[in-house]
Amino acid sequence: MATHVKPATAQTPRRRTLGPQVPLEGDNGLYTQAWFPICMSNDLAPGEVKGYPFLGGRVVAFRGEDGIAQVTSAYCTHLGADLSVGKVVGNHVQCAYHMWEFDRAGACKKTGCGDPAPARANLFAFPTLEKHGLVWAFNGEEPHYDLPEWPFPEADLVVQTQEFPVPMAVDPWVICAQTPDIQHLLLLHKFEVLPGGIAREVEWTDHSMFYDIDGIWGGRHMQVRGGIIGTSIFFQTGTLDGRWFGFLAAFGLPAPQQSRLFSVFAGERTEDEVEVRAFLTECHEFETAIAMEDSEIAMKMHFKVGSLTKQDTTLARYLEMVRNWPRSHPSEEFIH
Ligand code: FES
Ligand SMILES: [Fe+2]
Repeated sequence: MATHVKPATAQTPRRRTLGPQVPLEGDNGLYTQAWFPICMSNDLAPGEVKGYPFLGGRVVAFRGEDGIAQVTSAYCTHLGADLSVGKVVGNHVQCAYHMWEFDRAGACKKTGCGDPAPARANLFAFPTLEKHGLVWAFNGEEPHYDLPEWPFPEADLVVQTQEFPVPMAVDPWVICAQTPDIQHLLLLHKFEVLPGGIAREVEWTDHSMFYDIDGIWGGRHMQVRGGIIGTSIFFQTGTLDGRWFGFLAAFGLPAPQQSRLFSVFAGERTEDEVEVRAFLTECHEFETAIAMEDSEIAMKMHFKVGSLTKQDTTLARYLEMVRNWPRSHPSEEFIH
């Protein structure tokens, strides 16, 4: 005789308990208004233009003769040629098809045939910054927060920036959500907590959260203050076995539910730069080993806010911050 599972009762509800959800990047055509890395500074020599996927569309980054990097929409406003096929002339990017030229503000300054440049033929120029060895673009008209600074003057530091070759199939903010997830530091990463503790107090602003970690991981003593800025940046400074280092992880947003991973390590400059760089490589390997413990989970997860418990309080507050984050997509008509 066939048996079957009994239907749901009040004791075994069939409905899943869900918390308030966080919109995914690209939901309703909107993206968080945040700074996102587009490429490494090293990828862009003076006079170079290169194309990158961003926000589900395409942008170019170019560096004029003046050395200043700019991110704009990729498609020429004449007939849509991809400007990454073009070149940089002076401080303008020039389309390869009919030689229209655009300045850093995206304004068309010149046509190849000599007709006057149309007044309303501008590219979308993203607010652009170059910092920490990365070229950043802000999704929005006006940035509402700054990129973080190291606690020492940059001249006193050796900084190493690199891109992790494999993108991840989740939104940047989902990766960021690991940091306010204090439980997983203890349970998954098995941080051994020292008297300074982990996240005893969390410092919140309207766009960031930071806390202290004093713990042992992989036999090494990590005493740092780390946190999240916005929806795309992990930032941490402190010591590894007593020696200062800084670590910034920046997550690019090529398309909905995709992240590009960049990491930046900083160490105090000494006479022996080779030795400092060896230390930064060691810091990189240390942080990568921690991140590898998360990677399969992050790659395969289907992020959804379900039933949370008391120890999820910090995570819940971060998710609320992201849920309420301003969203827009002013470049939409330009980058597709
Ligand atoms: S398509 Fe760019 S100038 Fe014609
Ligand atoms: Fe983690």
